[in-house]
Amino acid sequence: MTLVNCQKENITQGRRVLLVGGAGYIGCPVTSLLLESGYKVRNLDLLTYGHQTAIMGHMLSPDYEFQFGDMGCSKTMDEALDGITDVVILAGLVGDPITKKLPEESHRYNDMAIKHCLESLNIREIRNVIFVSTCSNYGKIEESEIADEDHALEPLSAYSRSKVNAEKLILSLKGKVDFHPTILRFATAFGMAPRMRFDLTVNEFTRDLYLDKELLVYDAETWRPYCHVKDFARLIRKVLQADTDKTSFEVFNAGSNENNFTKQGIVDLICGRLPDRKVSYNENSSDPRNYRVNFSKLSNVLGFECKYSVADGIDELLSGMDEHLFDDVEARQLYYGNYGIVNH
Ligand SMILES: NC(=O)c1ccc[n+]([C@@H]2O[C@H](COP(=O)([O-])OP(=O)(O)OC[C@H]3O[C@@H](n4cnc5c(N)ncnc54)[C@H](O)[C@@H]3O)[C@@H](O)[C@H]2O)c1
Repeated sequence: MTLVNCQKENITQGRRVLLVGGAGYIGCPVTSLLLESGYKVRNLDLLTYGHQTAIMGHMLSPDYEFQFGDMGCSKTMDEALDGITDVVILAGLVGDPITKKLPEESHRYNDMAIKHCLESLNIREIRNVIFVSTCSNYGKIEESEIADEDHALEPLSAYSRSKVNAEKLILSLKGKVDFHPTILRFATAFGMAPRMRFDLTVNEFTRDLYLDKELLVYDAETWRPYCHVKDFARLIRKVLQADTDKTSFEVFNAGSNENNFTKQGIVDLICGRLPDRKVSYNENSSDPRNYRVNFSKLSNVLGFECKYSVADGIDELLSGMDEHLFDDVEARQLYYGNYGIVNH
């Protein structure tokens, strides 16, 4: 056995990670990286968007198991947690538009099911529980401010209100549970993945401009942080490998200071690669979110740095489209974004 393989085995030996919601846009790259790093992975997922084909590649690995089911069901969670050493919670109805469109389902999954999932984790000898939250929790902040983890939360949608409530519930468990929870407030994701989402700014703008559609940009000067899905996967692995005294009951903004962008900044990057595109602008959209985020705690405490810039993500998507990887987007709308759910 080579030295590298030997070290890999020591860190991951006996670790079987449950990804709850692991078939989604971010869950698939997390699965690939954990398998590649020597972890065993079980994925519990409800396949809300009929996106089962996204996990077929993982099914080829002997270290991967898939379980169809709802994290809100006790029996399902009991089965899913059998033999599990660590849990990453990614599941839910994700995004402001879908939660606004489906308020009942949003409450069922993002409030009730999450609560149930969290309550089922104690006294099972689980080491890490990573809860994936969102930087949307900061809502709208002053132009002059950059939100660190202690900044006041101002959730402006049902989606982020549910995330803030789940965060509060987790932090209230201190001294009452035997696992080590970590809350990661993710920036907005971009980049290529098996369950691609074209309802997210960088991906959507890049595709629309590539197809030479006229792009309508709302509130072009509003700020958001962005992060490549592969960096999210690296971060989750980093937390699984870190000393728990650095991660237990800690909240981290997840992204990089360099990837705070205005929408205009993103349009400029794309148009620098695709000249003569049509872009029009509108102010006062129904989405007032505007936040720049400070990610220094990640590097200071965990020594973690993102590898990929927004420009890298745009280049990757453009080459994917050149290679015809996304010719089926119009034909498979549900698969390519959180627009509506399927009933199983
Ligand atoms: N994508 C982003 O830009 C972004 C930004 C910030 C935070 N996040 C967070 O990252 C996580 C993953 O987001 P994503 O973009 O991969 O979303 P996604 O919609 O692609 O994936 C969510 C997955 O959860 C599954 N799911 C939904 N309800 C479930 C339930 N009750 N039980 C089991 N599985 C269920 C879905 O089938 C889907 O596979 C979410 O928690 C989201 O809030 C995402």
